[in-house]
Amino acid sequence: MEQYDKEFLEYMKNKYKLTLDKATNGTEQQIITFAVAWNIWKQAKNLYYKTEQEDVAEFMSKDHSRLDYIFQEFRKSKSTGESRQLFMEFEAGIGRHIKWEEKILFPLVRQKLGDDSPMIDELELQHLRIMDDLTRISANLKARDTGIETDLERLLAGHDKMEEEGIYQWIDAYIDDKAKRAVLSRMR
Ligand SMILES: [Fe+2]
Ligand SMILES: [Fe+2]
Repeated sequence: MEQYDKEFLEYMKNKYKLTLDKATNGTEQQIITFAVAWNIWKQAKNLYYKTEQEDVAEFMSKDHSRLDYIFQEFRKSKSTGESRQLFMEFEAGIGRHIKWEEKILFPLVRQKLGDDSPMIDELELQHLRIMDDLTRISANLKARDTGIETDLERLLAGHDKMEEEGIYQWIDAYIDDKAKRAVLSRMR
């Protein structure tokens, strides 16, 4: 049995004179009307919750986990074809992620704190190191240099933690909901 919410049941009673009893024991038309309305209601609520509840920290941390997963799959992959495919996916994902940070998120922090933001300077330096490791891995895709791969793995672990516990939290605390929605919509 579906867990209908109270608000929905009230709405159906007022708008269509349909009670829960009619939704299960009424005419076919009544049952269908109720089921269709409930589906639409649930979808609308889901969308509402998504835009209302997700914040920058959650959105960006999920992207870190997704990229981590692809990188781990790449490290495990044995055939050159598969490694190449996974690496390209990872490289494109990281590139997009770093662009979001450097073009959208970091400027927000700089806007507030001015150019004196040592944390952002440090994160941008780490981005350069990440990109440098990517170039080196890309050049060794056939022979595989596990030393660089391990270096990148460590670098990313520290970097992601620094962002998740620092700068993303700071942005969520500092920007209002409207700005947050605008920022998130630019990253989707
Ligand atoms: Fe980053
Ligand atoms: Fe990040």
